[in-house]
Amino acid sequence: MYNQLISKKNKMAVIGLGYVGLPLALEFSKHFSVIGYDINQRHVKLLQNGVDASGEIPEEEFKGRDLVFTHNSEDINDCSLFIIAVPTPIDKYNKPDLRPLLSATLSVANAIKPGDFVIYESTVYPGCTTEECVPLLERVSNLRYRKDFKVGYSPERINPGDTQHSFKNTTKIVSACDQESLDQIAKIYETVVAAGVHRAPDIKVAEAAKIIENTQRDVNIALMNELSILFNRMGINTYDVIKAASTKWNFVPYTPGLVGGHCIGVDPYYMVHKAAELKYHPQMIASGRFVNDSMGGYVAKQTVKKLLSNDLPLLRARVLVMGITYKENVSDIRNSKVVDIVKELQSYRVSVDVVDYKADAHMVEDEYGIKLLPTPAGKYHAVIMAVPHQQYVNMSENDFKNLLDPKGLVVDIRGIYKDVIKELRYWSL
Ligand SMILES: NC(=O)c1ccc[n+]([C@@H]2O[C@H](COP(=O)([O-])OP(=O)(O)OC[C@H]3O[C@@H](n4cnc5c(N)ncnc54)[C@H](O)[C@@H]3O)[C@@H](O)[C@H]2O)c1
Repeated sequence: MYNQLISKKNKMAVIGLGYVGLPLALEFSKHFSVIGYDINQRHVKLLQNGVDASGEIPEEEFKGRDLVFTHNSEDINDCSLFIIAVPTPIDKYNKPDLRPLLSATLSVANAIKPGDFVIYESTVYPGCTTEECVPLLERVSNLRYRKDFKVGYSPERINPGDTQHSFKNTTKIVSACDQESLDQIAKIYETVVAAGVHRAPDIKVAEAAKIIENTQRDVNIALMNELSILFNRMGINTYDVIKAASTKWNFVPYTPGLVGGHCIGVDPYYMVHKAAELKYHPQMIASGRFVNDSMGGYVAKQTVKKLLSNDLPLLRARVLVMGITYKENVSDIRNSKVVDIVKELQSYRVSVDVVDYKADAHMVEDEYGIKLLPTPAGKYHAVIMAVPHQQYVNMSENDFKNLLDPKGLVVDIRGIYKDVIKELRYWSL
């Protein structure tokens, strides 16, 4: 397969051109002939003009690539290797929603021929690829798994907004249904991943590795969030405690915060789902989710308490929330936990303004019914620094004073202004 691709006798298709699929397609297209397929017609039109709507990839990166963007599924028919990087969200009951994955699998099932390879990059629970996707591929294509077509799994580990760690300098886990195809898949990824590949013994191990990376992070942050709730009751600043504890060589300095987005706040639910099928109820993973999912409401309630203790009638209270994306320095608003803060404050009839220069105002309004303001408007009784984007991190106490009533409060979720705010009222997790 590698030789066919590198000599450009065969083409590869990348299915799903989002945060994961687009950089992959762009990188592969430096060496191979690539068809980038996505069902979102508007998104494909922008990509055809060298525009990445997420703002992650500059226009120069699109130049001189052997890459055709399409929203027509028939255009992948003459490819021989298919990489699937579509979303794997959860539904409103926190259960895996495999519809995009299965629909992408269906498109590939209609295109595969004997000798083809299908590689999954989407995050799933261990067993999902072989139990859910492979049977669909076999049924629709009338081909046999392993004999007629090969399957691999290579989880993506990118960290949007992180300029240091890219998919090129992070070891890529690869796995496959047999040794021969593993060698081919490893060779294909080694072409684009400078950090090299790690060959997992089978597909389930690779699926599990990805999901525990995010689950471990979720549980560790949940522990810090729980400690933060406790330290708040004790009148101790969590960040002071973490700084002190970090002087021990084996203390791992996780910090409290909101866990939103489509990976860390979602993937543990995939594990919980699989565990339930096996009649096991994972207490730690589920309680990590419970704690982290309740932090937005907790921050809002603490803000309300502080406003009331300042003799401020809530009906008059004005709060400014800075940042609504799911984390700093990205434009992605999916599963933002800042929204929980806004909604909880509004449930107390507090007036809330939200600003975020990274987020698309139309998307925020469509998704959450929240109108972003271009700039703060007037004086507030509290400013909640929810997502400390680059433009906000260097704010001085005077900058906050300009936004606040003299008795106003700074709520600093990530504790970054702890040593900056000296006079204003201040609270952090
Ligand atoms: N974004 C991250 O930081 C990240 C990191 C590691 C892993 N992942 C995982 O990678 C996968 C993709 O995530 P993402 O963030 O790139 O998602 P995304 O939403 O940014 O992009 C997915 C793209 O797939 C397209 N799509 C949906 N269904 C399709 C179909 N049936 N056929 C063709 N295209 C389809 C969508 O239009 C969208 O453009 C998920 O499983 C995610 O958990 C994401």
